[in-house]
Amino acid sequence: MRRLPTALLTLCCCAAALVAEESRPRYLDPAVPLEERVEDILGRLTLEEKLGLVHADSKFSTAGVPRLGIPKMWMSDGPHGVREEISRDNWRPAGRTDDFATWLPVSIALAATWNPELGEAYGGVIAAEARARGKHLMLGPGVNIQRTPLNGRTFEYLGEDPWLAARMAVGVIRGMQAGDVAACVKHFALNNQEHARGTVNVEVDERPLRELYLAPFEAAVREAGVWSVMGAYNKFRGQHCCHHGYLLNTVLKGEWGFRGLVVSDWGGTHSTAEAARDGLDLEMGTRGSYSDYYLAEPFRRGIESGEFPVALLDDKVRRNLRVLLATRALDDRAPGALNTRAHQALARKVAEEGLVLLKNSGALLPLDLAQIRRIAVIGDNAVRLQAHGGQSSEIKAFHEVSPLAGLVAYTDGRADVNFSLGVLAPKYRRMEAFDVTGAAEHVALPDRKLDPAELLERAVAAARAADVAIVFAGLNHERHNDTESTDRLSLELPYGQPELIARVAAANPRTIVVLVAGSPVAMDPWLEKVPVVVQAWYAGMEGGHAIASMIFGDTNPSGRLPCTFPRRLEDTAPHATGLARHYPGEAGTVHYDEGLFVGYRWNDAKAVEPLFPFGFGLSYTTFELSGLEVAAGGDAGAVATVECEVTNTGSRAGAEVVQLYVEPVAPAVQRPVRELKAFAKVLVQPGERRTVRLALGARAFSYYSPERKAWVVDAGEYRIAVGRSSRDLPLRGSFHLTQPLETR
Ligand code: BGC
Repeated sequence: MRRLPTALLTLCCCAAALVAEESRPRYLDPAVPLEERVEDILGRLTLEEKLGLVHADSKFSTAGVPRLGIPKMWMSDGPHGVREEISRDNWRPAGRTDDFATWLPVSIALAATWNPELGEAYGGVIAAEARARGKHLMLGPGVNIQRTPLNGRTFEYLGEDPWLAARMAVGVIRGMQAGDVAACVKHFALNNQEHARGTVNVEVDERPLRELYLAPFEAAVREAGVWSVMGAYNKFRGQHCCHHGYLLNTVLKGEWGFRGLVVSDWGGTHSTAEAARDGLDLEMGTRGSYSDYYLAEPFRRGIESGEFPVALLDDKVRRNLRVLLATRALDDRAPGALNTRAHQALARKVAEEGLVLLKNSGALLPLDLAQIRRIAVIGDNAVRLQAHGGQSSEIKAFHEVSPLAGLVAYTDGRADVNFSLGVLAPKYRRMEAFDVTGAAEHVALPDRKLDPAELLERAVAAARAADVAIVFAGLNHERHNDTESTDRLSLELPYGQPELIARVAAANPRTIVVLVAGSPVAMDPWLEKVPVVVQAWYAGMEGGHAIASMIFGDTNPSGRLPCTFPRRLEDTAPHATGLARHYPGEAGTVHYDEGLFVGYRWNDAKAVEPLFPFGFGLSYTTFELSGLEVAAGGDAGAVATVECEVTNTGSRAGAEVVQLYVEPVAPAVQRPVRELKAFAKVLVQPGERRTVRLALGARAFSYYSPERKAWVVDAGEYRIAVGRSSRDLPLRGSFHLTQPLETR
């Protein structure tokens, strides 16, 4: 065969490349900058196609543009892993077998780790599983501040402190988005109770709004570059938050420069005009046919009649397209993976680091298995599966190691493990949820009535006969527990668990209480009677293993409370007055009259003693903090840098969480006594001393000035308090700021 001259060959190749380039539109080329790809697509879309991108075409997708090869954008709950598939047009599970996922410990357990790096790994696991399941946008993390411990979704959020919540959220979002999956921080804003969530109006002043409730969202946008924000169901200052001129246009998109997508909560849209003008970019979950959605036909009619400029629609389309492109939905996406060994290991690590040891009298823990022959395991929560509960954050877990299963696996025949239920908790509903046909209701079950008195006596007898009793008490995901849609009705443990604990403790002084609950519970009636209390949250699919390793000392607890545990409900800000105005609302409005004084800020301002303070958690070892030094300036524009030493004075390796609170000495405006502004979790070997360095930026000293619309730092004296909880701050220094500062 004759060979072509080189020059001719080059010419042919160039021509072929040119043809290919012309036939491949710019928006399909990953090398083209994102904004150019967005504009290229926008220029090709019909009105119909644009509208298809700004509202749902199923429970969890938009229409995409098949003509241009633009896929549907697939969304999924949620914060703790990828939710099971839901039917196209209703909330019933789709009944598939390819939608199991890793169930990670719930958000409040993650917050209890005080380890933002774990947050990043957590986001990475969600991203890998989301890619494997073909999802582009994951509906989490939830960052609403815990105002009342009764909020049914406390378990889905990151606690009561904006700084801690922000650090953890930034970690999760970075991890998720590094895996080409968009995070969706929710619920913006002030969704601090489930009771009447769709209608309640919140009135709160500008300072608490900015300093507490918006702060984690601001960090999500400005620091983590989150690609999506979900509006809240409730109203704020009379307007529904899913289309809210002030929150979405002025603050989020204006002041914070957010260029991503605002998605409504499911069914949170109420008006075409407001959705069009007041910042909503994607309408999801509205009842009725998709073409009747506020941003579908009614929006089209408004555009055609000239009521709404098409530029409003174009802006929404751009924002939707940005997310699709940023998640590489049009490019080659890495395939992802489900339930790998690494994912399981991460779930276990988060569970371990999130366990909070609240009480350990006489160093009963860790238990020495060699000294134990019989263990009584007691309580509904020792066996109740928790993954598939709580509504939108539920996960169809590949497996779930219950506390009982974890203890049985750990002891492995070396001790007798005797289980008794102890209380009668409501029927577990998982199987019904799975049953798409509804046939389960008609399945005949033997009429086996359990007698609560008998259950209690059996548990007490088991405790008496054992060397140690472990009661798994707490809440679950049934109505008025830790669940979406309803709030708890009180702080007390339900189903007679206080009596169970008291009776078991009377029968066996070596009684350990492990609380499986996503929010604080009252302990006053029984706390003094038991030597050990552990807060285990809902610890994910490996939770039982994590609990067992902690109980027997293979791991050393290092979790710290991300929220105050009050003695009584009245000791918390929204319940102090007992007025409906403060909770759950009066005439449809709830007034946050406590202003800045939420969580530990309330306890400090009102000198209310908590049961367990914010930031608290014990270890099997002991630490000593020393050598506090405060210096002006520091890396990356820090205003001050604080150093101290942490020494492990015990005999086991352990992690301490060094917490720094700033206390303005003579503030010109009302300020909380102290606020968390930096922390570090450090692993220290026995006898080892480590230096901890904490940087404080201008924000650490600032408050929001509504008059100046800016974050203001007054010159003057600030105390720097460092320690191991908001109520245990042995190191004290001070910092004098000579010049006032102002940032936006
Ligand atoms: C919840 C959201 C969730 C959405 C979709 C709503 O009821 O408030 O958090 O993402 O449903 O399931």
